[in-house]
Amino acid sequence: MDGMEPVPASRSKTEMTEIVFPNDANPLGNMMGGRVMQWIDIAAAIAAGRHARGPVVTASVDQLDFHNPVRVGGVVVLQATVNYAHRTSMECGVKVWSEDRASGRRRHVASAYLTFVALDPNTGRPTPVPPVLPETPEEKRRCKEAEERRAERIAALKGRD
Ligand SMILES: CC(C)(COP(=O)(O)OP(=O)(O)OC[C@H]1O[C@@H](n2cnc3c(N)ncnc32)[C@H](O)[C@@H]1OP(=O)(O)O)[C@@H](O)C(=O)NCCC(=O)NCCS
Repeated sequence: MDGMEPVPASRSKTEMTEIVFPNDANPLGNMMGGRVMQWIDIAAAIAAGRHARGPVVTASVDQLDFHNPVRVGGVVVLQATVNYAHRTSMECGVKVWSEDRASGRRRHVASAYLTFVALDPNTGRPTPVPPVLPETPEEKRRCKEAEERRAERIAALKGRD
């Protein structure tokens, strides 16, 4: 991380929009949780790759809660950003919305925090990433909270050893 120029949080901003097809749904006609998890992972991987400017892998996913169902045919919007970067790892926040086509109104479907690790394309080993430069008050809050979550994650990982 030493010597690397901080990268504005806005560089990693990613928005992904999907339509829920029957193949994405359970027999009740609601989007399956597993499909949302896949889309969350993809949106976050794109955000982390934009920050790192290289390949990244998912190291962990924090708790994931589903607040509202989405019906087949619904529009789903995923917004992802890198909140905080440590040495080789990055925390991505992803917020998932369903969008009403008639009114454009958005409803919160799910949120998740994921940790990605940047890999050196030649060795496949973790490689340093630049720090995040949070510019807006919102980005600064997210960055500070992400740093605190990282400390909790590391403590939990150590507790499992
Ligand atoms: C993630 C992975 C690269 C870490 O490798 P490692 O040998 O443990 O590397 P290190 O111990 O040097 O840790 C590297 C970074 O990963 C972080 N990390 C490792 N495991 C983690 C976990 N479970 N949760 C959060 N962060 C983790 C470390 O804190 C460290 O961060 P830092 O450099 O910013 O301080 C390795 O475990 C791996 O390849 N896992 C499989 C990834 C995968 O296949 N994902 C699914 C498909 S994309």
